[in-house]
Amino acid sequence: MNVQEAIVSLLQTVQEELQHIADSQGLEGVRLRMLGKKGELTALLRAMGQVPPEDRPAIGQMINEAREKAVALLDARGQWIAARERALALANERIDVTQPVPGPGLGALHPISLVLGEVLDVFTGMGFEVVEGPEVELDLFNFEMMNMPPNHPARDAQDTFYIEDKIVLRTHTSPVQARIMTTRKPPIRIVCPGRVYRADEVDATHSPVFHQLEGLVVGEDVTMADLKGTLDAFAQRLYGPDITTRFRPSFFPFTEPSAEVDLTCSACRGKGCRVCKGTGWIEVLGSGMVNPRVLDMCGIASDRYSGFAFGVGLERIAMLRYDIQDMRLLYEGDVRFLSQFR
Ligand code: PHE
Repeated sequence: MNVQEAIVSLLQTVQEELQHIADSQGLEGVRLRMLGKKGELTALLRAMGQVPPEDRPAIGQMINEAREKAVALLDARGQWIAARERALALANERIDVTQPVPGPGLGALHPISLVLGEVLDVFTGMGFEVVEGPEVELDLFNFEMMNMPPNHPARDAQDTFYIEDKIVLRTHTSPVQARIMTTRKPPIRIVCPGRVYRADEVDATHSPVFHQLEGLVVGEDVTMADLKGTLDAFAQRLYGPDITTRFRPSFFPFTEPSAEVDLTCSACRGKGCRVCKGTGWIEVLGSGMVNPRVLDMCGIASDRYSGFAFGVGLERIAMLRYDIQDMRLLYEGDVRFLSQFR
């Protein structure tokens, strides 16, 4: 077979093969086989050495023309394939605009945020101001000015995360009391919500991070009756007019006298049930009259002023309010749980 015949048959093969090629990958295969470095037309060009010199210009021209033809054939098929692939893609990716879509996923407030909102509503309604303090706190405010000097055994009651020797993750919101009392003069009437930290193992009722709300009132003639009246009003605004408080003697270094405060069980209204373990009461708060030593350390004259303080755990309120049995649910971020609080 001479070169001319070889070229004709090559072009014929290209044409035939292209008819069966329907995608760009296949097209590239044919292109390489013809025009690539090891392609058949390229091989013909290489073979020019064996052609007698006088025939070379003519044959060279033939090969070049063949090459142009092959390129034109490939291009034409390429255009056909591109159009076909675009049409296929459009068909595949077609969107049915008439199909109903699920509405935008509405978020929900976290139960702790819901409870905090309610509690703040009650206290701001009574004239309390909301104040916040740092979570990384000086030992001075967290312990010393709360009447817990270094090495005082009361510190053992709170397993503390230390950042440095004299800097801790606050174990309660009470240091905000010290921060406010050292910078303001009475009358003071504040509530301080926030995260607190204790080195506790995680279980159904404990978490190393939880939330408290601290209350503090300082002024002239502030008495335990004011504390009781305030907490009664709080309990009734939160759970209803039939709810009362019960004070039990307790101890905190920063209050004297101190009391644990129980509320009438809101599940059984005091009759006794599973939630209150049959007692009719739920322990909810720590409280007391601000220890005069704390007032004096903060620069507030204890012979003239007195005050009361209380601390409440927001997890506890949320768990009671929504009948949540396991505290871990509050921190795991499971949407199935959280989306129930719309
Ligand atoms: N700070 C106490 C605690 O975390 C609670 C408390 C606050 C008690 C204010 C009395 C007065 O346990």
